[in-house]
Amino acid sequence: MTTTARPQLARSLRLGLLIAATIGVATGLFAWRQVSDERRIDLEDVNRRAHVLAQQLSGTVGRALTLPDAQAREALRARLDGYSRLIGYAVFRPDGQLVASGKAVTEFADRLQPTAILAAQTGTDAFDTTRFQGAPIHVFAIPLKDAAGSGQGVLVVAHDVSYIDERATGRLVRYGFWILIVTLLAVMLVVGMTWFAYERPLHKLADWMRRLRTENVSEAPPRGLPSALLHSETDRLAASFRAARSTGRRLSQAAMHAEQVWTRDRLRTHAITALGEDRQLIVVSNREPYMHQLRDGEPRMIMPAGGLVTALDPVLQACGGVWIAHGGGDADRETADASGRLTVPPDDARYTLRRVWLTREEEQGYYYGFSNEGLWPLCHLAHERPVFRAADWDYYRQANQRFADAVIEEIGDGKAVVLVQDYQLALVPQMLKAVRPDLRVGLFWHIPWPNPEAFRICPWGADILTGMLGADLVGFHLQQYCNNFLDTVDRVLESRLDWDHFAVEFKGRVSQVRPFPISVQDWAERKVPAGEELARQIAALKAQHKLDGAYVAVGVDRIDYTKGLPERFRAVGRFLEKYPQYRGRFTFVELGAPSRTHLRRYRDHIAQLEALADEINWKYQTNGWKPIHFLASHHDARTVHAFLRMASMCIVSSLHDGMNLVAKEYVAAQESEGVLILSEFAGAARELADAIIINPYDTEQFADAIRYGMEMDTAQRRARMRRMRRTVEEHNIYRWAAGFLTELAATRAQAPAGMAAGVGES
Ligand code: F6P
Repeated sequence: MTTTARPQLARSLRLGLLIAATIGVATGLFAWRQVSDERRIDLEDVNRRAHVLAQQLSGTVGRALTLPDAQAREALRARLDGYSRLIGYAVFRPDGQLVASGKAVTEFADRLQPTAILAAQTGTDAFDTTRFQGAPIHVFAIPLKDAAGSGQGVLVVAHDVSYIDERATGRLVRYGFWILIVTLLAVMLVVGMTWFAYERPLHKLADWMRRLRTENVSEAPPRGLPSALLHSETDRLAASFRAARSTGRRLSQAAMHAEQVWTRDRLRTHAITALGEDRQLIVVSNREPYMHQLRDGEPRMIMPAGGLVTALDPVLQACGGVWIAHGGGDADRETADASGRLTVPPDDARYTLRRVWLTREEEQGYYYGFSNEGLWPLCHLAHERPVFRAADWDYYRQANQRFADAVIEEIGDGKAVVLVQDYQLALVPQMLKAVRPDLRVGLFWHIPWPNPEAFRICPWGADILTGMLGADLVGFHLQQYCNNFLDTVDRVLESRLDWDHFAVEFKGRVSQVRPFPISVQDWAERKVPAGEELARQIAALKAQHKLDGAYVAVGVDRIDYTKGLPERFRAVGRFLEKYPQYRGRFTFVELGAPSRTHLRRYRDHIAQLEALADEINWKYQTNGWKPIHFLASHHDARTVHAFLRMASMCIVSSLHDGMNLVAKEYVAAQESEGVLILSEFAGAARELADAIIINPYDTEQFADAIRYGMEMDTAQRRARMRRMRRTVEEHNIYRWAAGFLTELAATRAQAPAGMAAGVGES
């Protein structure tokens, strides 16, 4: 036993002794009571016997008492002797004078006198106990009366009752013995139970915590803790602790390299080194960056709304390569070649877009069904129940295989680094490794990762994790999602976790797990108006929507129930109700891009929002002003940029969001001021602490935040925006990509000691 374990054993012992003392006192009192009762019953027996004996002799004694003392003594001689426990009799006159007594009684007859007098005076039976030469004597007296009822005298019966005391002592000894045995057993039980169930596991836990703190151990927390909650919380605590330490390590390494701002050119050069000159870069995602749709019979190119496209297109433009994605536009086939390829951007070819064709059934089951009715609500805590259908799962696997096949086809015999994007393609990493273990595969998960309890409901959870762990590097926006992911793997798969390096060894392969908060590029690099042209564009938009003179707040979102749009509209309504002075002066513009509209939930959501906007507008609008402009259609980057520049405030109220790039887009679009209201449940809130952070479910707080933002003084607005701009400029999308590629390139070299190296080349 270690010296630190001794005090705990002593504590168990103390507890045992306390319990023993309690049991001892309680059972001792019980035994004492029992013995007293039994003694009383024995004495009552003696009483009864003495009464019967006295009755039997009372006639003879009564007659003798009519005689003078000497004759009476003579008449009673030899009748008053006892036998066995009956010591004998004594006869007294009513005044207490002894007339005669048995031989054995004579020596202590004076001690019987008080009981005899009592019986004579009360005229009733009396009894008492006395002692003679240490022995206990039971004294029973009955008064004797003549025919006229006058007292003749008293007959006393004396019994030796030492046997009653002996019997009581014997009982006490026996009770004491059993009390001792029971108490000892109880002590052993209590000490054993507390030691094995509490003290020992807690001692092990404390020991493990100490080693975690001081020796950097990587083993899992001890099992067998007294509460399941303690297990899960310890796991998480350890994960956070290790994460904090490894983040600290990485941050200090990063600081040592004194990073300057990452640019497109810098990333291009860096990518060549990180990838190796002979490796091509392949990005694969469900959503394509350029989609062609028929408008008035002509194909029109749009960039779909969503953070993934916003973030990845500049990376591909910088590094070149192939982006493989679902060709979902109704004019996609006619704008690509026979293999589904085209170069993009259309007017300045930088990389190849390879479109993958899916059947309508595949799109329904894989994308709308499993991805967006299953995994999407599973990963977002927005109180939407996930739906899992076996048929959707089959399509999901089939479609993932189709994407994986397209990747393999694009790579041919060459070498490649493959960046798999998001929850629609969770199985692709493993599918790629199954045929090309030499590929370097990264997976970036753009949405939150839930805790293991939430994830467990997915019937195919183990398959999803297995698919993901085909990747050498799995990236999430936040450390918290990495922790949740490792926790989930720990619960669902038979794998080996290395919490120090945030790595998983599964089926002989190692996957690193890291946070990479995604970001945006500078608006100046995009083809959006600036200067005079921008001013004209803004003026035109203001005129079109009658926004002149108003304080404009803006929201830009895919219309999705996770974005907190009803909460936002309600907060605007409450703000105008609470602060009527702003009616006619404050206008909120929502640029909402309809999304996933084949799903009823999404169609209903648009209808709900339209009705809500209408209700609020109806309540407050005046002739020339309405509070909410809900512009539900696809908006191109120029329009979005113009609104972001025009708006004095941007509102992001996601109920749960992996990152939310609109918040960063707004900051990037500002020159000097502008207020950002940002949900605490969006990943971006971790980096943009100078935003006004809100809980979108708290309408009062939300409404007050709008007022606070409007009334914030210029100096504070500028200072906050300056800090947020610096953050977004420094942590831009090029830095994100460089970080991901660097980690991916280093994955095998860094495979933690003791873990298997990945299959294939380094
Ligand atoms: O951010 C999560 C995500 O699914 C991205 O993959 C995508 O950019 C965005 O949402 C849009 O979703 P969808 O591709 O379903 O329109």
